[in-house]
Amino acid sequence: MGKHITFIGLDVHKETITVALAESGGRDDVREYGRIANTPEALTRVVTKLQRVGGELRFCYEAGPCGYGIQRQLTAAGHGCVVVAPSLIPRKPGERIKTDRRDAVNLARLHRAGELTAVWVPDPAHEAIRDLVWTRECLSASYRERENSRFLLKERNSLFHENGNSDNITFMKTIVIANQKGGSGKSTTAVHLAAAAEAAGDGPVVISDTDPQGTAADWFNQRKQSGIETPRYSELSLDDLAGRVQALDQAGAAYLFIDTAPSIGAVNADLFALADLILIPLNPTPADLRALVKGLPLIRESGKPFQFVLTRVRPKLRNNDGAAMALGALGLVLSSRMHERVIYAETFAHGKTALETEVKGIAAQEITALWHEIREKLERENS
Ligand SMILES: Nc1ncnc2c1ncn2[C@@H]1O[C@H](COP(=O)(O)OP(=O)(O)OP(=O)(O)O)[C@@H](O)[C@H]1O
Ligand SMILES: [Mg+2]
Repeated sequence: MGKHITFIGLDVHKETITVALAESGGRDDVREYGRIANTPEALTRVVTKLQRVGGELRFCYEAGPCGYGIQRQLTAAGHGCVVVAPSLIPRKPGERIKTDRRDAVNLARLHRAGELTAVWVPDPAHEAIRDLVWTRECLSASYRERENSRFLLKERNSLFHENGNSDNITFMKTIVIANQKGGSGKSTTAVHLAAAAEAAGDGPVVISDTDPQGTAADWFNQRKQSGIETPRYSELSLDDLAGRVQALDQAGAAYLFIDTAPSIGAVNADLFALADLILIPLNPTPADLRALVKGLPLIRESGKPFQFVLTRVRPKLRNNDGAAMALGALGLVLSSRMHERVIYAETFAHGKTALETEVKGIAAQEITALWHEIREKLERENS
């Protein structure tokens, strides 16, 4: 006879948890255990009681606003616990009336039958990102209000003061590409996006490089030698960043892409202050996510809209999927990704981009899709 397993369905609410039990080997003997307070202590008491019966305990509950604390508590205590996507829970036709008891019983029964699909449970690093998202949502509401009033001000100026002084009023959109992790793909993303924006007819586009390594600047110099002058390049004097950005705007630039150094520091804080969007190229690996968390406070403090773009994605790497799913669930990841492709590295080294080398190639398509998504985000932030 196999080992005895108790499958435990938890219907979790803010204040309470309804518990139901299904024993392995049985068919219909799913029973309600009862309702307990949603506290670690109350859960520990249930676990202790159930352990006395012997055998293995396997818990499950639906993903929801109460988070992953229960899952972490139970797995730390050595028990299995899966968090289930509500949309993936099989429901019988006509099963519309939901009660806590019925939900808990249903979960226990389905868990025993092996019919539940677990969601990926984020580790504390991912949860830190989630906290950031809440902050960002609050901040971006006030940012949008500010942007709206800026827009109205511009309109008023152009309507009433044909030759009015439009100093301090900007039309150009500034995209700062940052991630303090070296080699995350900042420079590759910056130049490819700038080229894609130009190719889409959204220019004039300007690139600036604030990284002392000068990767994007070198790229531009090589490009110029082969006779390609767009996107344009402009030095940014760190002493007068705001003035320089304003000058580019007044010179008629539509988009400014700023490549940054792999470090967290005062320079990046000043750059974030100028950004309409902070773009964070991210290799979706747990190590890169952990490294990212260190840089998040600076982004949070800037109060500027930000998005992650998954770069160097390798489709068959399971880690990639986990990290991508976790970030995707936050709604802050652009759906277009840059995959790991030789063409990005090869063209970059010669002052080119995948867009010129294989105009209709898969890399050109994904970078164009990425640019369109970013452009839409910027438009939406302003509408
Ligand atoms: N999508 C990709 N596919 C293949 N290679 C890539 C891709 N993105 C970047 N690379 C390669 O990875 C290396 C690092 O990329 P890149 O210089 O863009 O990163 P970075 O974040 O700017 O680095 P740093 O922090 O040093 O400035 C380069 O050799 C680049 O060619
Ligand atoms: Mg770089």
